[in-house]
Amino acid sequence: MTVKEQIDRLRAELHRHNYQYYVLNNPEISDKEFDNLMRELQELEQAHPEYADQNSPTMRVGSDLSKDFRQIKHKYPMLSLGNTYSEADVADFYDRVRRGLNEDFEICCELKYDGASISLTYENGQLAYAVTRGDGEKGDDVTDNVKTIRSIPLVLQGDYPPRFEIRGEILMPWTVFEELNREREAREEPLFANPRNAASGTLKLQNSSVVASRKLDAYLYYLLGEQLPSDGHYENLQVAAGWGFKISTHMKKAHSLEDIMDYIKYWDTERKTLPVATDGIVLKVNSLRQQQLLGYTAKSPRWAIAYKFQAERACTRLDKVTYQVGRTGAVTPVANLDPVLLAGTIVKRASLHNADIIEGLDLHLGDMVYVEKGGEIIPKITGVDKAARGLHTGEKVKFITRCPECGSPLIRYEGEAAHYCTNETDCPPQLKGKIEHFISRRAMNIDGLGPETVDAFYQAGLIHDAADLYGLTVADITRMDRMGVRSANNILRSIDNSRNVPYERVLFALGIRFVGESVAKTIARSFTDIDKLASATLEELKATNDIGDKIAESIVNYFDKPANRQLVDRLRQAGLQFSRNETEETPHSDKLSGLSIVISGVFRHHSRDEYKELIERNGGKNAGSISSKTSFILAGENMGPKKLEDARKKGIRIMSEDEFLAMLQEQ
Ligand code: IVH
Repeated sequence: MTVKEQIDRLRAELHRHNYQYYVLNNPEISDKEFDNLMRELQELEQAHPEYADQNSPTMRVGSDLSKDFRQIKHKYPMLSLGNTYSEADVADFYDRVRRGLNEDFEICCELKYDGASISLTYENGQLAYAVTRGDGEKGDDVTDNVKTIRSIPLVLQGDYPPRFEIRGEILMPWTVFEELNREREAREEPLFANPRNAASGTLKLQNSSVVASRKLDAYLYYLLGEQLPSDGHYENLQVAAGWGFKISTHMKKAHSLEDIMDYIKYWDTERKTLPVATDGIVLKVNSLRQQQLLGYTAKSPRWAIAYKFQAERACTRLDKVTYQVGRTGAVTPVANLDPVLLAGTIVKRASLHNADIIEGLDLHLGDMVYVEKGGEIIPKITGVDKAARGLHTGEKVKFITRCPECGSPLIRYEGEAAHYCTNETDCPPQLKGKIEHFISRRAMNIDGLGPETVDAFYQAGLIHDAADLYGLTVADITRMDRMGVRSANNILRSIDNSRNVPYERVLFALGIRFVGESVAKTIARSFTDIDKLASATLEELKATNDIGDKIAESIVNYFDKPANRQLVDRLRQAGLQFSRNETEETPHSDKLSGLSIVISGVFRHHSRDEYKELIERNGGKNAGSISSKTSFILAGENMGPKKLEDARKKGIRIMSEDEFLAMLQEQ
């Protein structure tokens, strides 16, 4: 057998075992045997890169490559469904369908899975791309992340159409969700409110090997394409199950309104035994021909409806409202409640989000309020029982005007719902929050210091800001309770190691508003040291790809404040990385030397940022807008019409992605 044959055989075998295990729940071999086969394949692939394949089972382990997501336009828009909570509305829907069709019809009843919706496109039996719902018109290309989900086939079996799309829901099972939150709690990281947020947050992670570790699952529920097997939605999905997809086994065809009501009643309680979150039932006219006859409204199909389960609700007394101040100074109101049992746990507190919510509820102290969980961990207040108001009812809840921690006045920025404490330099929770952010894993990754230690050090006057960390000594730390020489040395070693953390993460660690991890990366590429960034004008910042007005203003504001500049100076003196590492910037060639290139549109092979990097590494310059100096435009799909016209007028060449890559390949 040739190496190629060996590789092909291993791949086919692993795809099959994967399907047996993750889709059918019926493994034929032990985990160890599976791992051995996988290792064998990995070794062969490493030794023979010429046989690399994007959809090899080895691709499921993810990669460490970070990248921003490119956007892809949906071939068919991803619509949402009309929602209802009442059985009367379901009856109305049934009636509308009956009158609209005036012939026999079947309704397919399904569970409404509560996760992140996804669209998968398969070409010649291979997963080509996976795109999030986005705004319904276009979504994020999350193919690399989706490949790590074992129940999604990379390569299909049987007799499938040459090209089709299948949509479904990516889910984080309850057990995985709870475990993830336990781990996050231990690491003092913010918790996910529900499995839906956890699933969609995970899909958007930059690092697909972290995605792989999160054990997501997926159910597919909607097949689209030109050459589908039959006219029946239900029947098509059963056929798709044979191609390797995980299709819910709880779908049922109803022939009467009574059948539908039975299904709803049964699943309203039974859903609690399922391994994943559901929030309702979806009803679909089964025949595709009949679906077409009924058609669509502007927002949703007329042939389908979602019936949502009532969220679990309790009624209890509002005792008082307290306020929490975060690291950005944002003030969050929290309702303190008489303890009440809700969906199996005792609830004492609920988030009130912001001043508008309080106003909208017309909340008074002592009010009897409705608390709901609806799949969320943090319960929310959804209403007030105004009829229960009486002598015991206290005054109307008024949002505070001064910071509960430092007494400074609060402000509310235009267009934002939150109030902020204005005292950025001395408000304790803001200062502590900034230090906590600075040392967090994704920023400077300083171990041994959790929020409690930061608080204790702060109280003891040891640290007031991030730069103070670099002046700590063993004697300082051992003076604290429960801190021996060993812990002190560990903390100091970790602080010392942080001096090697690359510039882009230092930028993120500074905690400039709106400068998250990926923005920090973009900035680091364009402004290769902190002085360039600190002296950049609003216009220069705005002209940088992917930096919008809000981010640009926030950066300028940050460096306008002397206190922030001093902090940066002290951190620089402490030896932190404030410029981009030379080796990362070494150009690969000078093929593009002297050329000024504008990037526009949506790309297939690389993200926009990767193209920017490619241009820079080959000696070219990436310009934000078209001018007479533009050498050519690297254009993806859907280039903006204004840019297109501008380019035509100026006679500037428009180069496709493939042409560009070919040009770089040339000797
Ligand atoms: S069908 C045009 N079926 O609910 C019909 N959707 O608002 C497209 N969902 O965004 C959707 N379970 O993410 C369909 N069995 C199911 C579903 C389902 C969950 C989600 C989906 C969609 C939303 C509808």
